[in-house]
Amino acid sequence: MKKFMIGAVAAAVVATSGLAAEYTLKFSHVVSANTPKGKAADFFEKRLEELSGGKIDVQVYPSSQLYNDNAVVKALRLNSVQMAAPSFSKFGKIVPNLALFDLPFLFKDIDHLHRVQDGPVGEKLKDMVTAKGIVALDFWDNGFKQFSSSKKALIEPADAEGQKFRIMSSKVLEAQMKAVGGNPQMMPFSEVYSGLQQGVIDAAENPISNIYTKKFHEVQTDLTISDHGYLGYLVVMSKKFWKSLPADLQANVKQAMKEATAKEREYAKALETEQFNEIKKYAEETGKLKIHTLTAEQKDAWRKAVSKIYPEFYDDKLIGKDLIEGAINTK
Ligand code: LMR
Repeated sequence: MKKFMIGAVAAAVVATSGLAAEYTLKFSHVVSANTPKGKAADFFEKRLEELSGGKIDVQVYPSSQLYNDNAVVKALRLNSVQMAAPSFSKFGKIVPNLALFDLPFLFKDIDHLHRVQDGPVGEKLKDMVTAKGIVALDFWDNGFKQFSSSKKALIEPADAEGQKFRIMSSKVLEAQMKAVGGNPQMMPFSEVYSGLQQGVIDAAENPISNIYTKKFHEVQTDLTISDHGYLGYLVVMSKKFWKSLPADLQANVKQAMKEATAKEREYAKALETEQFNEIKKYAEETGKLKIHTLTAEQKDAWRKAVSKIYPEFYDDKLIGKDLIEGAINTK
């Protein structure tokens, strides 16, 4: 429930069901509301409040309003926040193995990725998170990442040489950028725009919806459609909060989550096209951004240059060979 609406909606809930909210569920995330994660979080809010007859008041906090970046995982374990959907690398301190999803060129396409998430590899990763005292609910998409840059357009792997790349706090992404001679800099998402604007970093990688909604393309000169890696999320809940819910409300959470996940995949697909068109329009109208789409040969050169890092992560304390091969061999 949006904070400014609490009074009116709570009154309506009391009027229609005779019940006031018994539980408050704060859902914190770092992206804009108009992204797949933002929209699905808002859908989940509405649906869970409906299903629970207003017994659970869901409050969504977008754009790092409540917690910045990795901090949310710790806050969730303390039940200071009840729900979040961090991208995989942000679980680095508790389940580094989730960085499987950061490995460049690991997934053939989005269907392959979904089969991995919905199959034994995804289940194993969720179990690892659950073992750390956090309830793992579902995987959500953002999409494949694209490179943006200002110093030099990224067409061949050698173009990355010496460029300062903003990366999430991920050992995989660090290795990926080092493999092409780049200079990786870990930085929270909320600092990327100013980092690019002020030239603290030269380049970055993110899916279209994050680039568009945070206007990264307005502070870069080149955008390369590279689809070189994937960015998605694991939706998680505080175990303490989950255990405080009676069985019927737990069932409501599961149902709202199931519906939100189905919607989320649709939002991710639709927004990617819609927001890429907006970026193209900006590029045409202002002449300030060049968009490059890698050819199959150029993509192959990147694949060769960066996928050689996989063996560095065969150790179970990092990702694990079984998980990497399990993902590659998922049919
Ligand atoms: C990033 O830090 O680039 C992403 O994890 C942000 C997000 O949550 O999509």
